[in-house]
Amino acid sequence: MPLSQRSTLTQFLIEERRRYPGASGDFNALILDVALACKAIARSVAFGELGGVTGNHLAHLPATQATAAVASVNVQGEVQKKLDVISNDMFLRANEWGGHLAGMASEEMAEPYAIPANFPRGKYLLVFDPLDGSSNIDVNVSVGSIFSVLRAPAEVVQGQRKLTVEDFLQPGTEQVAAGYAIYGPTTMLMLTVGSGVHGFTLDPNLGEFKLTHPDVMVPADTQEFAINASNSRFWEPPVKRYVDECLAGKTGPRGQDFNMRWIASMVAEAHRILMRGGVFLYPRDTKDPSKPGRLRLMYEANPIGMIMEQAGGRASTGRGPVLQVQPQSLHQRIGLVFGSKSEVERIERYHDEPLPLKKADFETPLFAERSLFRD
Ligand code: AHG
Ligand code: MN
Ligand code: MN
Repeated sequence: MPLSQRSTLTQFLIEERRRYPGASGDFNALILDVALACKAIARSVAFGELGGVTGNHLAHLPATQATAAVASVNVQGEVQKKLDVISNDMFLRANEWGGHLAGMASEEMAEPYAIPANFPRGKYLLVFDPLDGSSNIDVNVSVGSIFSVLRAPAEVVQGQRKLTVEDFLQPGTEQVAAGYAIYGPTTMLMLTVGSGVHGFTLDPNLGEFKLTHPDVMVPADTQEFAINASNSRFWEPPVKRYVDECLAGKTGPRGQDFNMRWIASMVAEAHRILMRGGVFLYPRDTKDPSKPGRLRLMYEANPIGMIMEQAGGRASTGRGPVLQVQPQSLHQRIGLVFGSKSEVERIERYHDEPLPLKKADFETPLFAERSLFRD
């Protein structure tokens, strides 16, 4: 289709809004501000070393202590890349002024960000991972931004009380919209406003997102899975069983060969799965008992979960729908499995079923032989 005939993100949003005659336009303006932040981040990412944006963000220590430069860490204790901090700032600056938001929360900020008093307050909350997969940034592998839009409580919108962290703790089913931008060979924005998933490709000449992938659907079946196998000794038995069966291929109980991928950028894995199917697992494991999973519920699992479900896929904790989990804290971690529906359902079944072997049997040579990740 000629480029000129494709709708822009703006046109798409206006056409969607016409289905709700009472809509104020706030929501559309918010999504366009988010898209602007993503375009700005895409430019920074594209400059890489030339833009001086690679490497770690350095902590500002008092002069007396600053014997050597130290990388800053975020609230989760993870080293912040320069681009994590730059991207977080771009999200804040693009979205704080428009009057559509009551507050924002992000992976890179310990506490929620209330809209400053000099800007009007709006009725939505924005939660985001400004740069997902940022450990990949210095090796020039795809990264992205993930966002989730929730409604702010009426008393906060009307100024009757201050915004609190509890206002953000809504299950994923309450999301009004969710999406991600991927900064890969092309920059794309994948968006759901609750009526399917639609993909937009950034036209670098115009600086406009153009609708290139309407109504994306995740194939129900797949022969491709994604998991960080270096964690295999910490996996719970149902996950071990699932992966072992995939690895056994044609000769195992599945009767077919499986392919495996691991990019270590969840947006990039989610995008591959949206485009051609697959299943992604970062399950709950026993690696660190203080961390029930690696990924964060509010700004990683929920928005990607909504995208997957809106595209006909499934998103789960391994035990049930991730979108139904009541968040307990802003930076809460959770086990996450998403992608092609029949595989996610199979993994949930394995969690439900009694173990084929007793726990003690997993230490036996018989199981060790069957488990392809064991020595
Ligand atoms: P972030 O860069 O926002 O901290 O997220 C990284 C996440 C996710 O993108 C990816 O799936 C996972 O971390 C990779 O974890 P491992 O390094 O354990 O493979
Ligand atoms: Mn992330
Ligand atoms: Mn991040």
